[in-house]
Amino acid sequence: MKVFISGNIAPIGLKQLEENNIEVTQWKENRQITSEELIEACQNQDGLISVGPNKINADFLNACKHLKVIALHSVGFDQVDVKEANKLDIAIGNTPGVLSGATADTAFLLMLAVSRKAFYLHKKILKGEWKNYEPTPELGIELNGKTLGIFGMGKIGLEMAKKCIGAYQMPVIYHNRSNNEEAEKAIGAKYVSFEELLAQSDVLSIHTALTDETKDKFNLDVFKQMKREAIFINTARGGIHNEHDLTEALEQGIIWGAGLDVTNPEPMSADNPLLNMENVAVLPHIGSATQETRNAMAEIIVKNILAGIKGEPLPHQVN
Ligand code: DGY
Repeated sequence: MKVFISGNIAPIGLKQLEENNIEVTQWKENRQITSEELIEACQNQDGLISVGPNKINADFLNACKHLKVIALHSVGFDQVDVKEANKLDIAIGNTPGVLSGATADTAFLLMLAVSRKAFYLHKKILKGEWKNYEPTPELGIELNGKTLGIFGMGKIGLEMAKKCIGAYQMPVIYHNRSNNEEAEKAIGAKYVSFEELLAQSDVLSIHTALTDETKDKFNLDVFKQMKREAIFINTARGGIHNEHDLTEALEQGIIWGAGLDVTNPEPMSADNPLLNMENVAVLPHIGSATQETRNAMAEIIVKNILAGIKGEPLPHQVN
């Protein structure tokens, strides 16, 4: 059986594929594979391990309808036309559960970095601009007791909330399509309307999937309903905020700061104005990038591939 991998996965995954006699071909170039190259590479393959934002759309799926299984190197599957995959009977697998802690850590890191302007001040040192000790340099804000708003209270949102309660005793409010009773019981999170979430959050952290409903959800109108001291954090998908509007909201002081692990587009270009703002911290989509999490993801991916190739239900199947 043959599998194409469109990037790197943790070595443990490669080893397990080899142990199961799977013949692997891997994309080795230091750039994202194009759609045409991906279609070409998947001919004569039984499965695909899709690493990165490859568009698994109708065109791709129809050009590769011989594939038995596509194992995503992500929990998110917004890049997949699930309906088309269903029609063509191609199993799609993802990696839920194992990356909640690491992704919540990234959200927490960004929150703290923004609150103390850490990335901006680090850049000043690199530029040789640390000249003396200043009692009132660019001042940060404290997080203790501030209200955390979670948009999308699932596993990752709950992990983020637990960290914020543990570190800063932050009361937690959240907005979802439906109540998350587990979060309400476990940490006393309070369900609020979207408008209340915007009005009351000091830190608003996004932990929802990118869907037609959430695309561009955080736009200028929405930022205007947030507190002027609010910090906006997005570790979910860049398409959930409108980057132009976010830039304007920050430039005009409509909100205080932003921490992004996801941008739109990705990669963000080096001359993006957000990168020079004092109250902004940006990371290159590293939410789940720890050794432990990437190993766990690779192991799930292999399980998904092996099941899919045998025509069995995947342990983590999205369709
Ligand atoms: C995920 O698992 O969805 C991460 O964001 C990587 O894409």
